[in-house]
Amino acid sequence: MTPDVGIFGGSGLYTLLDDAETVQVDTAWGPPSAPVTVAVVDGVGVAFLPRHGPHHELPPHRVNYRANVDAMRRLGVHTLVAPFAAGSLRPEIRPGEVVVVDQLVDRTWGRADTFHDSFADGPQHISLADPYAPRVRRALLDAARSTGVTAHDGGTVVVINGPRFSTRAESAWHRQAGWHVVNMTQYPEAALAREAGLDFGGIALVTDYDTGLDGDPDVAPVGQEEVLEVFRSHVDRMRALLFAAVAGLAVR
Ligand code: ADE
Repeated sequence: MTPDVGIFGGSGLYTLLDDAETVQVDTAWGPPSAPVTVAVVDGVGVAFLPRHGPHHELPPHRVNYRANVDAMRRLGVHTLVAPFAAGSLRPEIRPGEVVVVDQLVDRTWGRADTFHDSFADGPQHISLADPYAPRVRRALLDAARSTGVTAHDGGTVVVINGPRFSTRAESAWHRQAGWHVVNMTQYPEAALAREAGLDFGGIALVTDYDTGLDGDPDVAPVGQEEVLEVFRSHVDRMRALLFAAVAGLAVR
């Protein structure tokens, strides 16, 4: 069975599919973060891969993003959905809510972010003006509505290198720039998905307010336990949302 839809798992989302077949995929970039599981959901073939590994052994700067995206491409998916934990940079985007992002800013460094290490066969400059496919965003928003999850339609994710969280000054800068959420993995996934010719969608599950909220001294800067705990408490709703989105993503 050739899956149509690939889904990456993030912090707190290490398994997704019941009655799944496990597939070892080899890529030119090495092994992906984990074996891929494949199953049929609502009549649609779905492939799942936890980006940090089955037990979260890979920090964001050590994930083999090329192998992960290439594994999905080799399995034959045409659409790739990337859920991710994120800190909110705005009071109106609250922990437990989701943001179906439409833009990103890359502040990572040192990551292999292209499949084109050589231009021997000609230049390969892709446009990443619009990293997120409108049809994938629509399906995710519809799925959020149908599962009762509060979703923000659009937003910019700024991607930091991690694994540390931002300083107060960095976070203030990100807020002043007008960005909405902060995360550590959306880049280079979005760029590699575009190079691989896949329609890409990103959905943030907000776990925290990053370094805090202006004017509210009770909101402490984020810690890793908070991220994992908030994600854990919402992971079933995220699963339901992703399953609800699959049928709308079957046809490109
Ligand atoms: N993932 C979840 N919360 C985050 C934050 N505040 N900064 C970066 N990545 C995150």
